[in-house]
Amino acid sequence: MAASALSTHARAAITGWGTAVPEQRLTNADLEQRVDTTDEWIVERTGIRERRIVGDGETTASLAVEAGTAAIKQAGITPEDINLLIVATATPEQPIPHTGAFVSDGLGIHCGSFDLGAGCAGFLYGLVTGSALLTSGGLGHVLIIGAETLSRIANPKDRGTCILFGDGAAAVVLSPSTEDGPGLLTWDLGCDGSATGLLEVQAGGSRLPATAETIAAGQQFIKMQGQEVFKRAVRAVVESVKNALDRADLTTADVDWFIPHQANARIIEAAANRLGIPAERTVVNIDRYGNTSAASIPLAMAEAADCGKFKDGDIVLLSGFGAGMTWGSAVLRWGTP
Ligand code: ACO
Repeated sequence: MAASALSTHARAAITGWGTAVPEQRLTNADLEQRVDTTDEWIVERTGIRERRIVGDGETTASLAVEAGTAAIKQAGITPEDINLLIVATATPEQPIPHTGAFVSDGLGIHCGSFDLGAGCAGFLYGLVTGSALLTSGGLGHVLIIGAETLSRIANPKDRGTCILFGDGAAAVVLSPSTEDGPGLLTWDLGCDGSATGLLEVQAGGSRLPATAETIAAGQQFIKMQGQEVFKRAVRAVVESVKNALDRADLTTADVDWFIPHQANARIIEAAANRLGIPAERTVVNIDRYGNTSAASIPLAMAEAADCGKFKDGDIVLLSGFGAGMTWGSAVLRWGTP
């Protein structure tokens, strides 16, 4: 279906959500067998106890299709009702074509689709973009999926990174809402490109095409300066949350639920403390999934929604940061239009 050139909507609200995680679990005990680490170190420094890891035949697109299908069903619509698909990922299906093409095929849809790369802040960028296109373009429904297979780019021999990352996907359907209705109220997005070297996969792009030498040097894997990312992440989340809340004329006291990117339990705790948001209003599931990058925020949000945590009218605050370094926050009023 093509969008009408004339119609617009006041606001975009989340009307469906769904998740997909692989069956296979990678526990801290498993990692103790592979690298020089301990369950105690990982739990104390990161809060992670296990992650889900894709098996044979599972890919970023297959997880995305499963999550997207669940979100569409929950929204009470059919795949043909989707007018735009955005897939946020740092681990695409392959370099060409984009992951959204594979996902479209899996869902059996033919609307516009594109991938969005903004590291772990990718879902937030997707939510803001999808909302803007839905409202300005008068679209019926937009499907936004965060999907990752980070296990495929984590160096199994690097104890500083292989313990952190997991695989998974989560999707939301955005639908039109009214001016006073539920939906995305305000947002804040940012990127400090002077920090590209803090978290990167060096080989495989135009700057350093993959060769036998780059593979031998392990440049197909994630490299990270963990401590520096940690410090910047806390600062970025605190600043970004304040910007987004200011724009909505709200304070952290108005926030019913805080859903941060699940990168490290200590980052979440430090950011929530500085913002004055208590632990009982902060959603944390990093213990079971690790860092699933662009999938982490929608995965935590969908789980909380499935548990019945949110009630209509609740203010839900999403915030994250990632490679780039990118960051972003979104303030939502929960509910069905
Ligand atoms: N097990 C045991 N020891 C370890 C491990 C491990 N898995 N990893 C590192 N260590 C050691 C280090 O070698 C170091 O030893 P040394 O003192 O002898 O040199 C010591 O533990 C302390 O290392 P630090 O790096 O200072 O540990 P830190 O407390 O900073 O924790 C961590 C490391 C968990 C990586 C942390 O810095 C972190 O979480 N950073 C943020 C990461 C992040 O959020 N990344 C994702 C961004 S989002 C995206 O877009 C993908």
